[in-house]
Amino acid sequence: SHKEANEENEFILSLPKETGLSSTPYLHLFQDFWCPTFYVEGVNNFPKSGTTWLKALTFAIANHQRFSSVDNHPLLSSNPHELVPYPEFMYSNDMHDQILSLSNMSEPRLLSTHLPFHSLPESITKSNCKIIYICRNPFDTFVSAWEFFTKIKPEFTFEEAFEKYCNGITVFGPWWSHMLGYWNESITTPNKVLFLKYEDLKEDTVFHVKRIAKFLDSPIIQGEESSTVIENIIKLCRFEKMKDLEVNKSGCIFDVLEKKNFFRKGEIGDWMNYFSPSMIEKLSKIIEEKLGGSGLSFKVHS
Ligand code: A3P
Repeated sequence: SHKEANEENEFILSLPKETGLSSTPYLHLFQDFWCPTFYVEGVNNFPKSGTTWLKALTFAIANHQRFSSVDNHPLLSSNPHELVPYPEFMYSNDMHDQILSLSNMSEPRLLSTHLPFHSLPESITKSNCKIIYICRNPFDTFVSAWEFFTKIKPEFTFEEAFEKYCNGITVFGPWWSHMLGYWNESITTPNKVLFLKYEDLKEDTVFHVKRIAKFLDSPIIQGEESSTVIENIIKLCRFEKMKDLEVNKSGCIFDVLEKKNFFRKGEIGDWMNYFSPSMIEKLSKIIEEKLGGSGLSFKVHS
């Protein structure tokens, strides 16, 4: 059944229909990783790394043939998190009915997760489903997370939250092992895991959208219309465009996450408005200690 499901479709993260999500270890994983202190996590990346953007782009690419008209595209009337859901959050929010209905999702089925690679069920790691991971420089990720989660959990100061972040006390485990898990997999199995960086995507969106399309074997990179199609997808998913859509201005995801808070500034380097010199030194040292030698590095200024 895995084979059948995967031969036909492309996925960000796909669980074969027959998996029966209620029997996967998701719930336990979620509880094990749950840290009831401060909530700073990342999607098939670490939270606040560009998940919303990646979901929008991947949805548009993977569904290009179904929704080739930009005028009535689902991304204009649904938030990207509604189109590409998180199974683990459904568990945590008593949305079991919706979990079961995943088997009724139209194809290609796109799912997303913040789980670290080593916690993914074998139905993902051992099947042919494809994984696209996006990460972001740890400075901007922290600021973005701070601005986002402080609205839900205002009890921590910026400094306290920073200490937790530096100690790896985050809901899906330390950010460095989260990134390295997918980074290493993308090196050993590049056909399985595509590794993207938010900063690269911002700097050369066309190039990286083509990488995503190629990775998904999408037809959009071929043919005379290719550059127009890619340009339209990029325009549809642009920060300013998405932020301005009615559907993203009000309402919540999972009852507590206000949709509008997924669209803040969308810049590289906003962290400079927040960090003290000692914080810069501390986080730089951790990045060097944890990621040095891995080949993974980040642009931190625009
Ligand atoms: P900032 O808080 O720095 O503005 P996630 O989607 O993983 O929650 O990450 C949220 C970050 O991505 C936020 O960063 C948000 O503004 C930015 N973002 C959301 N949609 C975007 C888009 N379409 N293009 C670029 N950045 C986007």
